[in-house]
Amino acid sequence: MGYNLLKGKRGVIFGALNEQSIAWKVAVKAVEEGATITLSNTAMAMRMGQTGELAKQLNCEVIAADATVVEDLEQVFVKSQEVLGGKIDFVLHSIGMSPNVRKGREYDDLDYNFYAKTLDISAVSFHKMMQVAKKLDAIAEGGSILALTHIAAQRIFAGYNDMADAKSTLESIARGFGYVYGRDKNVRVNTISQSPTPTTAGSGIGGMQSFLSFADKMSPLGNANADECADYCIVMFSDLTRKVTMQNLFHDGGFSTTGLTSAIVDEFINKNA
Ligand SMILES: NC(=O)c1ccc[n+]([C@@H]2O[C@H](COP(=O)([O-])OP(=O)(O)OC[C@H]3O[C@@H](n4cnc5c(N)ncnc54)[C@H](O)[C@@H]3O)[C@@H](O)[C@H]2O)c1
Repeated sequence: MGYNLLKGKRGVIFGALNEQSIAWKVAVKAVEEGATITLSNTAMAMRMGQTGELAKQLNCEVIAADATVVEDLEQVFVKSQEVLGGKIDFVLHSIGMSPNVRKGREYDDLDYNFYAKTLDISAVSFHKMMQVAKKLDAIAEGGSILALTHIAAQRIFAGYNDMADAKSTLESIARGFGYVYGRDKNVRVNTISQSPTPTTAGSGIGGMQSFLSFADKMSPLGNANADECADYCIVMFSDLTRKVTMQNLFHDGGFSTTGLTSAIVDEFINKNA
């Protein structure tokens, strides 16, 4: 059931690859809530993934872009305004990739060209997106911009590798740009720090299955799934959160504040007693 929370709003959603993608769920819910949107992903993802099917389902356009390429991002914001008929009210950055993780390079044996790519794709692209949008004056007053992150930005999670550095940078960019965008254009910028979620990007992280189970047991409410993450994104795009900006918002069932749960005691301590 929709609440019409985004009625009349225009959005751009980056990163819907397949039905598991968090961005996919956000796109579906945004349209359900009354928004009109455009989708964007890389040309490669459009060939390998199902972005085109989602566009058909939602009757919206897909604009191909590599989020590390400024000219591509300019196209996304110029075309999105044309297609949607005005300035953009919300943007989702749901993009992450580490060539080091993909190639199994450990944190003390990083390939530095890969490392630069990890940071560019997963973090600096967020800055590029906002700098492009601001220069084009593409975002409406009161607009809302979100990126998705993970608690590995603050605490060490084995296997998260150089993506942890990318997430720290991403969250810092949200604060830095949130300040200038808020001051100059009344646009808010936040990150949502999501539970581990079984998606294509998520499954690239080493030991994902064990981590999903561990995090679930360490969270009083259990892991938040992709649908629930999409609900939170919708609220953050809506007018109900007009004064929330420059925040890293945990959406993790309580994981980030929990030291030990009885489920973990049962699993690891009692079993070994
Ligand atoms: N899955 C998890 O456990 C989890 C947890 C917390 C945060 N996140 C974050 O959520 C976001 C979305 O990931 P997901 O889990 O839905 O996985 P996903 O694999 O479905 O989405 C990642 C997207 O990034 C896109 N992408 C990669 N390189 C790109 C580039 N150069 N330009 C534009 N797009 C590019 C991919 O095509 C894909 O659509 C990521 O930032 C991820 O780090 C995921």
